[in-house]
Amino acid sequence: MLFRQIFDSGSATYTYLLAARLGAEALIIDPVLEKVEQYLRLINELDLKLVKAIDTHMHADHVSGIGALRDATRCVTVMGQESPTDVVSMRVRDGDWVEAGDLRLKALHTPGHTAESYSFVMDDRVFTGDALFIRGTGRTDFQAGNSHEAYDSIFGKLLTLPDDTLIFPGHDYNGMTVSTVAEERAFNPRLQVSSPEEYAKIMDNLALPSPKMMDVAVPTNRAMGLSQEKGVKEGWGLSAGDAIAEADGDGALLVDLREVSERRHDANIAGSVHAPYAALDQYFRPGGLLQFESTTGGKRLIFFCSYGERSAMAVEAAKEAGLTDVASVVGGIKAWMEAGGPVIYDEGANQDGGGS
Ligand SMILES: [Fe+2]
Repeated sequence: MLFRQIFDSGSATYTYLLAARLGAEALIIDPVLEKVEQYLRLINELDLKLVKAIDTHMHADHVSGIGALRDATRCVTVMGQESPTDVVSMRVRDGDWVEAGDLRLKALHTPGHTAESYSFVMDDRVFTGDALFIRGTGRTDFQAGNSHEAYDSIFGKLLTLPDDTLIFPGHDYNGMTVSTVAEERAFNPRLQVSSPEEYAKIMDNLALPSPKMMDVAVPTNRAMGLSQEKGVKEGWGLSAGDAIAEADGDGALLVDLREVSERRHDANIAGSVHAPYAALDQYFRPGGLLQFESTTGGKRLIFFCSYGERSAMAVEAAKEAGLTDVASVVGGIKAWMEAGGPVIYDEGANQDGGGS
């Protein structure tokens, strides 16, 4: 496995670049905006294809690099479903798998530092974001933080992983790089408590100053979504209402770019074909499925995803591949549903509003 731990000294943030091997598909966790050029150089040097950029939560101490990486590589941005960010390509929930080539990470909802904090488990290691540090824990006094929830996340989830699980945190302020579950249970001073109340008392009395960057970082990180205006101006970004009307006729084929897990727990559109965003290169190449007239019937391809990011990027990629009659649903299936578009659910799906 290829594993790089990259440190941003300005915010004491750790960023992780992961891939199964040189030349493979890669994902990055908690990238920092100022270091995006450095990540891109490294990705290029290692011949990697960045397919996902994950933020463990909405950061208050630095501006995230996921938006800039998406713009540079067309990768999928990933956050937890509770994220207050305006647009993110894909929202995960507890237990979902995040895949990049042969890599698989399991999302664990670990709220407390913020409501939308997630940790990601991969084989022998866990990326804890700001839920758990080495000999410390993430503060719980802003952004819907909650010390009782933090206790449950740490003791009920992270410390129940096998003792030798490696812990890779989102920050370190003391020069440490890695720990283990057993080590933190034994030596983390904040975890030497016997009840949630005792932990909450410690956390609720830290009286920490606000992060220096907070006034800049939070609003910027909240508004990182891909602007979908370009598509509207150029005529390929369809409003949900227009997409619903077009889908009603015979001239269009709806193409669902979401992943299997999203289709399973969110709403689906009857009659759409599934072409996951990660596999689009194959579909677009000469002789690929979406180039075949027998598949598309010569119809206009209307891409959709959860919120419209992936579909907008797919239109750009499709045009580069020589497809001309392609469009994107602005706002994704969420907007489609808000506009009254018909949906169906997989059997056993959790019907909590779709596209969440
Ligand atoms: Fe944080």
